[in-house]
Amino acid sequence: MMIAIGCDHGGFELKNRIEKHLEERGIEYKDFGTFDEKSCDYPDIAKAVCESIVSGDTDRGILVCGTGIGMSMAANKIKGIRAAHLTDVYSAKMTKVHNNANVICLGGRVTGEELAYMIVDSWLDAEFAGGRHQARIDKISALEK
Ligand code: RB5
Repeated sequence: MMIAIGCDHGGFELKNRIEKHLEERGIEYKDFGTFDEKSCDYPDIAKAVCESIVSGDTDRGILVCGTGIGMSMAANKIKGIRAAHLTDVYSAKMTKVHNNANVICLGGRVTGEELAYMIVDSWLDAEFAGGRHQARIDKISALEK
């Protein structure tokens, strides 16, 4: 599995920590920036990460901004992306099991690193349940048309 990861200046520090966590777990990632704390625009990063997922170049994405909200708003505009803004572990698991979220969005100014690792792990380790949940996801896809 290849994870696409990206952040703006508000998520820079947490993105770096999450990358180390992924390395410790032996999970590969592609970093789409930003690469320093200079102010930048989160939609640009969300676009790059999400397009890599939709094209099949990467499998799933992690986006980090100050709150996680702007990243999720931008990511969910891209066809084929189901992005979940997360601040708790239960939702992290369930957004994979029920929504098959292919992107998660975290807030570097909101969520501490240890909780962030638990959120990332819960999402990565969960499995999509399919069945009636697939039918609901199909209805989300229909809204894109
Ligand atoms: C940047 O200051 C901040 O607005 C951004 O990181 C994010 O929180 C937007 O939702």
